[in-house]
Amino acid sequence: MAELGFEVIGIDTDLNKVTTLQGGHVPFFEPGLDEVLERNIKAGRLRFSTSIQEAAEFGDVHFICVGTPQLAGAQRADMTQVFGSIAALAPYLKPTDLVVGKSTVPVGTAHEIFEQLKNTAAAGVEVAWNPEFLREGFAVEDTLRPDRLVVGVRSQRAEDILREVYAPLIEINTPFLVTDFPTAELVKVAANSFLATKISFINAMAEVCEAAGADVSQLAEAIGYDPRIGNRFLSAGLGFGGGCLPKDIRAFMARAGELGADEALMFLREVDQINLRRRSHTVDLARKTLGGEFVGKSVTLLGAAFKPNSDDVRDSPSLDVAVAISNAGANVKIHDPKALENAARVYPNMNYEQDVMKALEGADLIIHGTEWNEYRELDPAEVAKVVNTRHVIDGRNVLDPQAWRAAGFTYRALGRPTA
Ligand code: UDX
Repeated sequence: MAELGFEVIGIDTDLNKVTTLQGGHVPFFEPGLDEVLERNIKAGRLRFSTSIQEAAEFGDVHFICVGTPQLAGAQRADMTQVFGSIAALAPYLKPTDLVVGKSTVPVGTAHEIFEQLKNTAAAGVEVAWNPEFLREGFAVEDTLRPDRLVVGVRSQRAEDILREVYAPLIEINTPFLVTDFPTAELVKVAANSFLATKISFINAMAEVCEAAGADVSQLAEAIGYDPRIGNRFLSAGLGFGGGCLPKDIRAFMARAGELGADEALMFLREVDQINLRRRSHTVDLARKTLGGEFVGKSVTLLGAAFKPNSDDVRDSPSLDVAVAISNAGANVKIHDPKALENAARVYPNMNYEQDVMKALEGADLIIHGTEWNEYRELDPAEVAKVVNTRHVIDGRNVLDPQAWRAAGFTYRALGRPTA
């Protein structure tokens, strides 16, 4: 918002994060965000604070961007942060203010917040729901040039304020859709469910290809030329992870159940199952490649982040496979260009190696789990010199089978038994 020209205060309850941000540093890895942050702090448009009172008194529009992780031991979303921040903000709101929810929430949340605020000192405050569609790794680009803007509102005034807020993006012809509260809330989970379904569809095809001796990458390319299908989000492999798709489809099923519409989303259970099976199938394939036994074998995992260009390890397929193989008795080394610190915080007892060639030293099997560019650029002939036995499993279907075979490796990819 500061880059769009507004004066902005960012609030967090974590003083460390606030201090880091105020110093011009992003406390996680996101390409291009450091520059935008520094530029706007220097320009005096952006500052950070832990004081919600300060923010409330300063701002006219209040974006709620807190997390809605999966509730421990349940499928549904943990809404503590959303309702906590609303409760903290409410006493300081001015009747002319607009509260805009960006968090991914169960449908009905905006209405609940609207009703809550109606009964407090903040009466008169407007509420809107404006789902966030940015992808990690492309956050800056997706924010400054979004595919679309969706705003769920209940009044013309709320719509008018948001048109003003997003004027620079509307000017560059970003589609601006005005809906009611529940539609705006549902757009987000529907979009993520569709993307998850697309990935699980191609991974289901990978399972059939595996059984039939076919090649899922060629199959994806061929169906992707049909513009009704499209070629994006059709990369078969270890499947989806991260802080959004897995927990969003689960929370969506849970919410549909509460609304009596659980039958409609039964297929998402299958989408989730197919996705989780990718991880167990990779472990099975690894065991088979190593002659049926992990004990005494060394396995190197290339990648800990759930996707490239991110240091996020939440629900990371690659890290999950690493831990499963380690639990099964192998010596596992994990490499990642950016995510090792986060991985070590979650799994302090795993072995991490910052230098990729050192990580590969002595390996009996390499598993390519996250498609960072640097793994694609590895020279198989150089890798061959440092490993113990030459086996590679390509969990992301992007390494060149011929190049790896030429260097003496056995190459296996999920859904491409003959590649
Ligand atoms: C997702 C949505 O794309 C974004 O719109 C929403 O705002 C948040 O959730 P993100 O979690 O950053 O974004 O990752 P995304 O790029 O969607 O990838 C999700 C996962 O799917 C990654 O683990 C990725 O490796 C995997 N994936 C993606 C595949 O396995 N195959 C594909 O073809 C595409």
